[in-house]
Amino acid sequence: MKDIVFATNNAHKLRELREITAGVLNVLSLADINCHEDIAETADTIEGNAIIKANYIKEHYGYDCFADDTGLEVDALGGEPGVRSARYAGEDCISENNIDLLLHRLEGQSQRSARFRTAIALRIGKDVTLFEGIVNGTILTERHGTGGFGYDSIFAPVEADGRSFAEMSADEKNAISHRGRATAALINYLLHGKS
Ligand code: IMP
Repeated sequence: MKDIVFATNNAHKLRELREITAGVLNVLSLADINCHEDIAETADTIEGNAIIKANYIKEHYGYDCFADDTGLEVDALGGEPGVRSARYAGEDCISENNIDLLLHRLEGQSQRSARFRTAIALRIGKDVTLFEGIVNGTILTERHGTGGFGYDSIFAPVEADGRSFAEMSADEKNAISHRGRATAALINYLLHGKS
């Protein structure tokens, strides 16, 4: 199996990625390569942030690697929080603060369509290749479920039965999620050279 670094410190994402790529890739974490610094995400698009992270690992640690960045794009808010999804309620906020702010901004709003969009940047040698995964859904009016992470408890994908991501098993979420889809495109490319 090919060794490849996934440039993230997020244990949830790492677990999801290892589940999705089990038997295909040996995914190393930043901790596995002794990288403990915080890589600044300074771009104004999710694609830009993914590229910054993938390039950083290749240039400082020498490993082929991929990095992802995800945004939750809410139509009634002009695509916000988008690239600012992690820090929507402020620099030091936690997911619960972000959810509270989003629910507040959508109070009384009946148009609640949204999508999670993941960009993955793959850096092999000198080449960077981008992959995208999208899942469309609705922002619920209150939290449902306790699984998952981030905005999962208020996002119900259109392809499911009304449940939020936080009410689904990991397998159910991975099968339709933004990250699952972007990762499927990445794996297809790594195995067959097609993006
Ligand atoms: P990141 O920059 O890719 O880490 O993601 C940005 C923000 O989106 C973070 O606040 C995450 O909590 C949130 N996020 C990313 N992926 C998911 C997901 O699968 N479900 C819910 N929230 C997510």
